Amino acid sequence: MREDSLLSPVVEDVEELTLRPHSLGDFVGQRKVKERLHISIDAARAQSRPLDHVLLSGPPGLGKTTLAGIISAEMGSALRVTSGPALERPGDLAAILSNLDPGDVFFIDEIHRLPRTIEEVLYSAMEDFVIDVILGKGPTAQSIRLELPRFTLVGATTRKGTVTAPLRDRFGIEEKLDYYLDEELATIVTRSAGILDIDIDDRAAHEIARRSRSTPRIANRLLARVRDYAVARAGGVVTTDVADTALGVLEVDSLGLDKVDRDILEAIILKFDGGPVGLSTLAIAVGEEPETVEDAYEPFLLQIGLLQRTPRGRIATDSAYRHLGVDRATTDRWF
Ligand SMILES: Nc1ncnc2c1ncn2[C@@H]1O[C@H](COP(=O)(O)OP(=O)(O)O)[C@@H](O)[C@H]1O
Ligand SMILES: [Mg+2]
Repeated sequence: MREDSLLSPVVEDVEELTLRPHSLGDFVGQRKVKERLHISIDAARAQSRPLDHVLLSGPPGLGKTTLAGIISAEMGSALRVTSGPALERPGDLAAILSNLDPGDVFFIDEIHRLPRTIEEVLYSAMEDFVIDVILGKGPTAQSIRLELPRFTLVGATTRKGTVTAPLRDRFGIEEKLDYYLDEELATIVTRSAGILDIDIDDRAAHEIARRSRSTPRIANRLLARVRDYAVARAGGVVTTDVADTALGVLEVDSLGLDKVDRDILEAIILKFDGGPVGLSTLAIAVGEEPETVEDAYEPFLLQIGLLQRTPRGRIATDSAYRHLGVDRATTDRWF
């Protein structure tokens, strides 16, 4: 059925699914966000009503999809999943909405990429739990009003700035996820190692945590790849030395930057004289989509102070020069 093909379009690896926490108690870090969600969930449950609509924002891999699952689990309701780009016609949305059960959590990933015509259908669905469906065409067209079960919409976005104001206004709860502390990531690595039955010592867990771009998804990925290295080349046990060597093979540097991170900084410094350089020019120089550079790479480089965004474009900071071992005076002469 068409509707089914719209649900769960997000492909994820098996390990990521196994490692996903299912309760607020297992969700590490984001203390304030958890506390507020917990209060709202408790209140909704106490009054036997669905939770208000929730908008989650933040860079990729920080736990937005995980939280949507946790919300549905904590509410004891079913989770229905789709994403902005997967919905093409208003009918697609109407089909999903009219098949929801009361209290269901309807998760729209990448909600900023929802086509405008569909977004407009969502307004009345979110606010009044009705949608107007147009039957027929031309002067004989009729509009009928469809009542929907009361549901909770959870939207996730990597760019809250591009979610339109009318859509944002319809979310009662808005939470922004922040980058994680190394200590929290070490807890996640240790928890994941337990689930995957990986023999790892505490210092090694911290080393992986420290080099995970402050992002749980990356921490779990690196753990799995370091495990591969340990099993294939080092007798199966992840010690600090083994972790360090494996991360070197993976080209993850001392700050946790991967090859694309470094390519971005190198391009700004060597090709564009330290910047400012526009996003699209920079993206072409590193062979990535502008959206990928902006949403997945830049936020972390900004966070750790290697990159700056200015009205005229991106600039590499002095720390970026130092990290790449490039002498600013030398490049000034070269280029
Ligand atoms: N707070 C957390 N505690 C433990 N694991 C987490 C946490 N946040 C994310 N993860 C792990 O990171 C992975 C990526 O999280 P996900 O929810 O898919 O991120 P997003 O949807 O924001 O891109 C998940 O599979 C989960 O295992
Ligand atoms: Mg996600």
